[in-house]
Parts: sequence; structure tokens; C-alpha cells
Amino acid sequence: MSGRGRFITFEGPEGSGKSTQLRLLGERLRKAGHDVLETQEPGGTPIGTQIRHVLLDAKNRELCPTAELLLMFASRAQNVDQLILPALSAGRTVLSDRFTDSTLVYQGVGRGLGADVVYELDRIACRGLIPDLTLVIDIDAEAGLARAHRRGARTAGSETRSETRIEEQDVAFHRRVREAYRQLAADESKRVRLIDGSQTREAVAEQVWHAVALPITPG
Ligand code: TMP
Repeated sequence: MSGRGRFITFEGPEGSGKSTQLRLLGERLRKAGHDVLETQEPGGTPIGTQIRHVLLDAKNRELCPTAELLLMFASRAQNVDQLILPALSAGRTVLSDRFTDSTLVYQGVGRGLGADVVYELDRIACRGLIPDLTLVIDIDAEAGLARAHRRGARTAGSETRSETRIEEQDVAFHRRVREAYRQLAADESKRVRLIDGSQTREAVAEQVWHAVALPITPG
């Protein structure tokens, strides 16, 4: 599509550092003259943020896997319609902290719902929108969880700390998620780049920049 902006997504297991990397990339792209929109899933829009609370509130233990799957896509449909497609049409660069690949690995593989239902819902909610580039910040499941817990301890008492319902799944769940991301990167090597998240923040940022910067020209 000529004039369409670039759509870049960040993915990774818990505690991978992808949100920090997204922020750093956003700053660097803006300095290089790009008009950047940052969004997040679940969340992004005001309605998506309300859905995020339902999905991640640790108190909602009875939420069933199918409701979880549908709510992920409800949030995504709103994000695609309200923020992402208009921004891309206006030629902006869109950075999203998670997108359909998260649903593929967490609900499709982690929960065992399968890939077919995820792709079917993606077709309805995203209407053919596929990221131009996906950066998977890869980290060992245990190391990532330990990082996420340390971050949680630092922000204890704040609202973010109640957002742990999925993070609290057992380690086997998070290992499946990590392996599914690695498999995805192998299966879709053109779109999906695996980035070693165990390095320093600066070293990871350089890898991200290298993956993103070359094909991009402002305007
Ligand atoms: P975050 O901590 O990276 O913001 O992600 C929130 C949680 O939601 C995280 O545990 C991953 C999970 N998630 C899914 O399970 N499926 C999805 O489709 C998305 C977008 C997130």
C-alpha cells in the first residue's frame, strides 16, 4: 500500500524487556524524524484499557480460556479500528507492544486452544492487517519471570501489580510460550526477528535498531 506507514510489533515472554525496548525505539525514530504512534495490547484505547483490567486482574481467576481469547481480540479490534489503521493510513509508524502473535503463543499454544481459532478471529478483528516487522525479545522463561517479579516488587501497591493473572501461570505454561515464539521466528523468518534479550538494555536496543532502521526512510 503506497503512503501507508510501517507497522512494527514487539513480542516476548514475561520480563523480556520488550516494553522498554519499544519506548527506546520510539524515541530514536522520533529523533530521526518519524511520526510515531505507540500502542499496547491488551489496551491501547480507553475501551481496550478497561478490557485489559478484566483480563489481567489477578482476582478474575474464573475467567475461562475462550472468554480470555475473545477479550484479547475485542481489545485488538478496538485498537485496530480506533488507532492503528487510521495512523497507518496517515503514514505514521505504529509500534505495538504485543499483537496477534501474543494470542497465538499464549492462548493458541499456552492454553492449548490451537492456531486455527486464533487465525479465524484475527481475520475478523484485524481484517488482513499483519505487522511489517515483529521483534521477539527472547528470554529464558525462568529468567524473564524473575525479572518480572523484581519489577513487580519495585512497583508493589500500584495498579500494575494487580495485573498478574496470566503472569501467575506455572513455569511450564511460560516455557511453552517461549518455545512457541522461537518456533514462530523460525517459521516466519522474514517478518519475525528473534532478538537475544539476555544482553544489556543498550545491546538489545542496538539489535532492535539494526533490525528496524535499515529499511526505513522518513516520510
Ligand atoms: P504485558 O505485561 O506485556 O503488557 O502483557 C500482558 C499479559 O497479557 C501478558 O501476560 C501476556 C498476556 N497476553 C495474552 O495472553 N494474549 C494476548 O493476546 C496479549 C496481547 C497478551
